[in-house]
Amino acid sequence: MEIRPCTDDDLAILSSSWKVQGGVHESHHSGQRTGDTTYLVAWRGEEPLGSGVVQWGGCVGAKARVAFPRAVEINHLQVRDEYRSQGVGTALIATAEQLILREGRLQVAVGVADDNPHAERLYLSLGYRRTGIVDVSEYQWVSDDGTVQQAREHDQLLVKDLA
Ligand SMILES: CC(C)(COP(=O)(O)OP(=O)(O)OC[C@H]1O[C@@H](n2cnc3c(N)ncnc32)[C@H](O)[C@@H]1OP(=O)(O)O)[C@@H](O)C(=O)NCCC(=O)NCCS
Repeated sequence: MEIRPCTDDDLAILSSSWKVQGGVHESHHSGQRTGDTTYLVAWRGEEPLGSGVVQWGGCVGAKARVAFPRAVEINHLQVRDEYRSQGVGTALIATAEQLILREGRLQVAVGVADDNPHAERLYLSLGYRRTGIVDVSEYQWVSDDGTVQQAREHDQLLVKDLA
């Protein structure tokens, strides 16, 4: 498995072999131009396995930003169904943490929806701790039938100090 920031060439493969509604790859890829984010993608050969975004600007949630102003957030972590429970998510998180540490940043945050105990368990097992901070996020997503859905999520903030 290789994990690297998404290049223009990678985007072309992603768009054809990992189809996600709503231009998600394109938007995460272009978000890198300003230097505010890094879109990490895990590959096995030419096959994309999963991805995640490093938010250098810090926590997305308002309460989280106030409580942990120096933290870098990892979000949009996603492993394709057929590649789950093979260590891809763990490897994406580890690579993000290495990048963050290399930039001299010492704290990482993740927001986990309160109905996502699987992801929470994974983060806890990797050294993240509960903070008791919950931010509400609202976003739109496109379902398989092409309709735009509105979602409202309560995200618990977990943090980890990198040593
Ligand atoms: C959460 C998510 C990213 C985890 O990705 P993943 O690649 O399945 O994660 P990992 O394989 O590293 O670890 C998950 C589980 O596999 C186990 N595991 C790790 N390496 C493994 C390996 N080599 N072989 C088998 N199992 C392994 C872990 O112990 C963990 O066990 P758990 O089910 O008890 O938690 C993935 O399930 C996902 O995309 N979910 C939908 C989107 C989402 O919820 N994103 C998180 C938002 S905060």
